[in-house]
Amino acid sequence: MIRIEGVNKIYNEGTAQAFDALKSINMQVNKGELIILSGVSGSGKSTLLSLIAGLDKPSSGKIIVNGELISKLPDLHASAYRAETVGVIFQHFNLLESLSVQENVMVPLINSGLGLSVIKEMTQKSMKMSVIEHKATQQISLLSGGEKQRCAIARALVHEPKLILCDEPTANLDRANSLKFIEILHSLHKMGKTIIVATHDPLFEELDFVSKVIAMEDGSIV
Ligand SMILES: Nc1ncnc2c1ncn2[C@@H]1O[C@H](COP(=O)(O)OP(=O)(O)OP(=O)(O)O)[C@@H](O)[C@H]1O
Ligand SMILES: [Mg+2]
Repeated sequence: MIRIEGVNKIYNEGTAQAFDALKSINMQVNKGELIILSGVSGSGKSTLLSLIAGLDKPSSGKIIVNGELISKLPDLHASAYRAETVGVIFQHFNLLESLSVQENVMVPLINSGLGLSVIKEMTQKSMKMSVIEHKATQQISLLSGGEKQRCAIARALVHEPKLILCDEPTANLDRANSLKFIEILHSLHKMGKTIIVATHDPLFEELDFVSKVIAMEDGSIV
């Protein structure tokens, strides 16, 4: 599903502040795998996820997802790739605080060309799967941290992406909410989704459905 070949990422390339954030990364992820990306702060996990998500481009090397060379996609095609294939879950949720849960969850479908009844149906389904359906009409600013995270999950899943990328998804959650998150991840895994989670949460080390742990250090895979 994902092939990464000789990927380098240099921030501020060509300036005195140039920084090698990723160095000669090679990795392969098969369809349906759940990959844990581990490594200390600054090792390059978020950088790698943003390249796979098509949010940024490598300085050199290739990233191929579903047979498509996404490292070379022009911006317009990159956003189409994200809209079709990728769901991203961040540590800080990135929700629109003044809107309701269901409005936030709908956002990725707004430019999809789908009819309103289909959009409502998909939104409902995703909220149900993410155990946040009971708060559908509540404003984000009135939710608990765990509920915000589950709303963010619903938004990431609403367009039914094949690939789900999670960046420190449990960093702001207590143990009970982290375990709920892991339960949702498990059901996504059973559905055959390909999932990459960047985390240093020890809870993920104990999971029996993890396919592979990839450890990063100083921009390299170790
Ligand atoms: N836009 C940027 N410009 C310059 N340097 C950057 C930029 N983004 C990240 N870096 C640097 O690249 C390195 C890798 O950052 P990255 O965010 O990928 O690490 P991380 O493994 O996700 O860390 P954390 O666990 O703290 O989230 C860090 O040293 C960071 O300072
Ligand atoms: Mg990070």
